[in-house]
Amino acid sequence: MKNSLEICILAAGKGTRMKTATPKILQPLAGTPMLAHVVSTARTLNPTKIHLVVSPDHEALKSAIEDNGDLNWVVQSEQLGTGHAVQQAAPDMDPDASILILLADVPLLRQETLQPLLESPADVAVLTVDLVDPTGYGRIQRNDENQVLRIVEEKDADAETRAISEINTGIFKIGEGQLPGLLSRLSNDNQQQEYYLTDIVELAGSDGLHIATVKTLSAAEVSGVNDLVQLASAERAFQRRQAEELMKAGVRILDPNRVDIRGSVTFGQDVVIDVNVVIEGPCAFGNGVVIESGVVIQSSRVGDSSRIKAQSNLEGAQLGEHCQVGPFARLRPGTALADGVAIGNFVEVKQTTMGSGSKASHLSYLGDAAIGERVNVGAGTITCNYDGVNKWQTVLEDEVFVGSNTALVAPVTVGAGATIGAGSTITGSIAPAALGVARGRQRNIDDWPRPEKASDAPGLVKKSAPKQTGV
Ligand code: UD1
Ligand code: CA
Repeated sequence: MKNSLEICILAAGKGTRMKTATPKILQPLAGTPMLAHVVSTARTLNPTKIHLVVSPDHEALKSAIEDNGDLNWVVQSEQLGTGHAVQQAAPDMDPDASILILLADVPLLRQETLQPLLESPADVAVLTVDLVDPTGYGRIQRNDENQVLRIVEEKDADAETRAISEINTGIFKIGEGQLPGLLSRLSNDNQQQEYYLTDIVELAGSDGLHIATVKTLSAAEVSGVNDLVQLASAERAFQRRQAEELMKAGVRILDPNRVDIRGSVTFGQDVVIDVNVVIEGPCAFGNGVVIESGVVIQSSRVGDSSRIKAQSNLEGAQLGEHCQVGPFARLRPGTALADGVAIGNFVEVKQTTMGSGSKASHLSYLGDAAIGERVNVGAGTITCNYDGVNKWQTVLEDEVFVGSNTALVAPVTVGAGATIGAGSTITGSIAPAALGVARGRQRNIDDWPRPEKASDAPGLVKKSAPKQTGV
């Protein structure tokens, strides 16, 4: 096919500067592996093929990257450099295709920025950028006519070359049919004894081919991520970009520098996010949801007009509309709240459904419970769901009223409209509309002598007790 585009993503490097057990390119950026960001950018360009050059121990990559059958996994058995990496993929490339080279450790790059590079008619087009601090990058060396001569790696550069501020982003487009001839002539005669892909520029020049540079203005977008310091800067840049996109789409973010959104998250209209919120997808928020400060939400769905108050923690929870949660609430996996449910401070909910209009306003643990509609769970209610071996269910039918400080020893069922007296330990089921109360009766003793301090010994003794002698 004429004018076909193939993309080659280099992802086999050792990543030694990262100093982590996790492979560098699987380090998460906004909750998604760096490499996955690059693969999805590649897909937006609709190439005929995507070659992914990986190291032999790439099993972790295979499980982290979704392969829709469009990825050609190429193993580079020894990491002999970026040029050597592309050489491994070359036999699988259509010799007449133009080739775009992407680096797995340049994850912020956007399709818009690649477009001018793809449109360049040059035989070799290099994406470059001017950096205030170019340390670590390959420098673009030009002649007096401003034509590109070669790219010089930091380790091979003299002081004059190091002073050049224009750097190689590592992203190239090689015109139709040009790559094989250039690749076959790479050598490893350099400081790192590696086959540098960057040497194709000088080779192309000596062949009289047309070399062009496409300069981007966005330094952050083409930053390479080699260590954890650069990963943190890339994360901030990504979060900032994402927050700006969300604000432009109508999400009110009070401070875009103090919100982190990771993975896939969707928002309705008029959502408000206060400061220091962390959201990890997949999550979906309806219209008019308010998320107060210090809230952490993972894998949850929140319906229209619900409010998550300060310092609450939600994981695997499904909330209907008009719910109120927190402050300081914890919703754990399996929590399903119908419309209008209210969960107050210091309430923990797990594997529990609550029907519409039900409330647990203070200091409770609700685990493995099926709670009906309009149920009032009093302060300090605890479902005793675990006997040390098995988990048991608590059922509170519609309109149950649970008095404060009640222990519900599961399995137990409380019938519709039943009432439980405060301070009860409920071990047996209660019939609908009945009162269940299970606690010691109050006993009063008149004229009770209060203890008072003994004169010759520390501690408290009763007024009526005989004085202690000796020890
Ligand atoms: C590379 C460029 C440098 C550029 C910089 C931009 C070369 C020689 N240098 O340097 O000019 O300024 O990127 O970020 O190309 N990889 C392989 N196999 C290998 C070696 C590397 O697949 O044998 C992959 C890595 O996984 C990585 C990418 O290629 O994704 C770049 O390799 P890296 O070692 O990070 O190159 P830099 O030193 O950053
Ligand atoms: Ca790099």
